[in-house]
Amino acid sequence: MRSGQTVTEINESRRLAIDGGKPVRTEPLPLEFPGIHYLDDEEIAAALRVLKSKSLFRFYGVDLQEEVANFESEFARWLGINHAVAVTSGTGALSVALSALGVGPGQEVIIPAYMWVAVASAVVNRGAIPVLAEIDNTFTLDPVSFEKQITPRTAGVILVHMSGAPGDVKAVQRIARQHGIFLLEDCAQCNGGTVDGQKVGTFGDIGAFSFQMNKNMTSGEGGCVVMNDLCLYQRTVACHDLGYGRDDQGRLSLNDSNCFLWGEGYRLDELRASLLRAQLRKLPRIIGAMHSSKYRIRKALEAFPSVQLRRIIDPRGDTGCFLITTYKDRETAGRVNRALRAEGIVTHPQGVSNVLMTEWGLHLYHNIPSLVNKTSVDGRGFPWKLAENAGPERSYAKGACPVSDSLFERSIILAIPSCLSERDEDDIIEAFEKVLHGLSLA
Ligand SMILES: Cc1ncc(COP(=O)(O)O)c(C=O)c1O
Repeated sequence: MRSGQTVTEINESRRLAIDGGKPVRTEPLPLEFPGIHYLDDEEIAAALRVLKSKSLFRFYGVDLQEEVANFESEFARWLGINHAVAVTSGTGALSVALSALGVGPGQEVIIPAYMWVAVASAVVNRGAIPVLAEIDNTFTLDPVSFEKQITPRTAGVILVHMSGAPGDVKAVQRIARQHGIFLLEDCAQCNGGTVDGQKVGTFGDIGAFSFQMNKNMTSGEGGCVVMNDLCLYQRTVACHDLGYGRDDQGRLSLNDSNCFLWGEGYRLDELRASLLRAQLRKLPRIIGAMHSSKYRIRKALEAFPSVQLRRIIDPRGDTGCFLITTYKDRETAGRVNRALRAEGIVTHPQGVSNVLMTEWGLHLYHNIPSLVNKTSVDGRGFPWKLAENAGPERSYAKGACPVSDSLFERSIILAIPSCLSERDEDDIIEAFEKVLHGLSLA
């Protein structure tokens, strides 16, 4: 409120846009796509270098640049892990990781209620059964619910570090070890996140990353599988390729009978690896920008007890790409979201920057029709009806995870682009303050 304003002017400036008042802003917020905003001459030069070499395949070429091999060692070094295998997508990374771990029919894999459809499909495609566990107010796997879901059939757990911030990986790791089951970390949405200074993807037996366009660094599509164990690495190399190992020259090697497997064809190409090498160098800056914007906004919201902020396991290790706020009930969350959107807290039409979590599509278990309906690609019930998977009937319909359902219904997710200006941040803060006062939630 500016000094010198009349009471009428003050009342008018407080009138919510949803009630016909003037919106805080009319220009859409920038689209999310963290890595894209940092794409510049460095990526262009890298792509040109590869194109000029006329060597687009990772294992041989007329003038091989070894972009994929170099990216793998640079990414592994950056994470602080022994091995990395680049693949063509995060979905492929999850699939190859489960193959390398030997997952198949007769086994269960525990997954959180909040994830991405690819997490469930990776398990189903291996012939195993996904078992849902609740999330807690970190919006990642609840360790207590996870432990309750362990049965003699449980092969492992997928901890998904959702919406930019790490899950309670140390608790999940401890429980997984106690029960002798694997821990696969899905870091697609949290590349560069840390807990107590250690990067996500390095706590579990194996980690999966995505470099699709919405991710913290990107080559449009792409992914990576990382691990410390040599045997798991060799199996991952074989599974992501043709089912066999490769020698130092990139030639197929049929000498190791431990690696007579089946390949899935997820090899990454030189062009995308060259982009990823440039993006990796920029990742700390990208994360730094999102983190700084998010925590400025979060700080302002701390003044409002009616707004519950997502519990962050280690704020220094949050990559910052999303802000989640939770309210006392679904009506309140709906009113706040509609009012914020009317104040101009939206992106361009194709973006989904500021939505109720129930509208967050295939991230919610009960929004995934193939899971809810237990669809099978063979039309004969694979994997649900396999004899090895006979057991208790499992429901994936809404209501299967009531704690998560309640969090979804009461929460709003706001993307924090990596290129927010101070003015954009001011507008987001002003819109929240105006809406919370206007709806008597201050
Ligand atoms: C948590 C999570 N896992 C896996 C994936 C799959 O990655 P991709 O789109 O690269 O296949 C995504 C992508 O959106 C994701 O968000």
